[in-house]
Amino acid sequence: MAQIFPRWTNETPTWGTVGGLAAAGFVTFALYWWASPYNTDVGYKPVQPVAYSHALHAGTLQMDCRYCHAYAERGPHAGVPPTQVCMNCHSQVKKGSEKLKPIYDSWADGKGTASVPWVQIHQLPDFAYFNHSAHLGVGFGENRAAIGCETCHGRIDTMEVVRQVQPLSMGWCIECHSNPGPNLRPVENVTTMGWKPDLKWTEKTLAIAATLHPPGSLSAAQKRAPDGHLETRSTAGCSGCHR
Ligand code: HEC
Ligand code: HEC
Ligand code: HEC
Ligand code: HEC
Ligand code: HEC
Repeated sequence: MAQIFPRWTNETPTWGTVGGLAAAGFVTFALYWWASPYNTDVGYKPVQPVAYSHALHAGTLQMDCRYCHAYAERGPHAGVPPTQVCMNCHSQVKKGSEKLKPIYDSWADGKGTASVPWVQIHQLPDFAYFNHSAHLGVGFGENRAAIGCETCHGRIDTMEVVRQVQPLSMGWCIECHSNPGPNLRPVENVTTMGWKPDLKWTEKTLAIAATLHPPGSLSAAQKRAPDGHLETRSTAGCSGCHR
């Protein structure tokens, strides 16, 4: 095999630095390459079987996201609601509406067994791991905070038809993981749309962010150990998201 590094490099203690720089270089390349929007689905907005409007239900009617996406805080998937949830109201409201026909068809047996074929909009490839509940509550005790639905999905409460507003690329994940502070909000505001931090909260996020260790954080990856060499922290690993 061709010799890549001159022999003298074996005898110097710079190996750690070379490795560290190579790793940092790779991560920077990855960030640049995978953040580019060419392979993302921003704007994807398929036609759904029912003209369901978030602008009406989450906006005008002010329904909480968790009324329909109940699993978001409990597990990896937020999930799309079963017919039963719609029937809580539509067994009375707009009963017989042509627009709701697929809902009533799916409810024909009284159980919603024939579920409505909603088209999935947001979808990561199988080799990337994402968990909603891990983002809707981060940190402990005093330092408890959350990433709001709005941060990753935009102003859903104004959308007649849901569209993807973020690239969901690896670069997008790592950009936030490297500096989560500005994206944190109080847990009670997790579903609030149009939430803005005040000065006091902005200061507090500095302390909270320092307690977090999201996988792939660039600042953590390049941390210098007390003896001066570049230390690659375990949180910098790829396996946090590629399991
Ligand atoms: C009355 C029930 C209901 C409420 C309340 C609701 N949703 Fe939905 N949501 C749905 C249904 C049904 C779909 C699937 C059809 C569609 O995409 O519009 C959906 C789809 C979505 C999707 C896209 C899912 C995919 O396939 O990728 C996102 C993101 C979403 N909702 C976020 C929210 C957020 C954020 C809120 C609160 C602001 C919210 N929803 C409130 C019923 C609801
Ligand atoms: C940190 C970013 C982030 C936050 C915060 C977030 N989501 Fe998501 N959401 C995603 C990603 C990424 C996907 C695609 C997941 C996949 O394919 O495994 C997704 C998918 C979804 C889906 C499609 C069904 C599913 O579970 O895959 C719905 C519905 C949804 N999100 C609703 C919500 C709601 C409601 C909230 C707030 C309570 C929320 N999301 C908060 C990033 C986020
Ligand atoms: C909390 C009560 C409630 C729930 C739950 C609910 N809706 Fe609605 N929905 C309403 C109200 C109120 C209206 C507006 C009625 C009007 O315009 O007078 C409406 C209107 C609609 C319309 C327009 C109907 C028309 O003929 O104009 C559709 C479509 C619809 N909802 C779909 C859904 C779907 C799908 C679900 C389940 C994911 C759902 N809704 C859950 C209360 C609800
Ligand atoms: C807006 C900020 C933000 C975005 C965007 C984001 N994350 Fe996170 N992520 C966080 C924070 C904050 C934590 C919590 C770290 C902790 O608790 O120490 C976290 C934790 C995680 C964890 C560790 C918890 C677990 O479930 O094992 C994984 C894995 C993860 N994120 C994957 C992803 C992936 C994949 C994406 C992109 C599709 C993504 N994240 C996008 C902020 C974000
Ligand atoms: C914060 C979570 C996260 C971390 C950490 C992470 N990845 Fe990824 N990676 C993703 C996501 C999400 C995708 C899917 C992106 C997409 O679909 O556009 C991805 C995609 C990829 C792909 C496929 C690219 C393509 O074009 O399809 C490769 C290869 C990859 N990652 C390698 C790595 C390596 C090597 C590391 C460690 C340096 C790493 N990842 C760390 C989230 C992560």
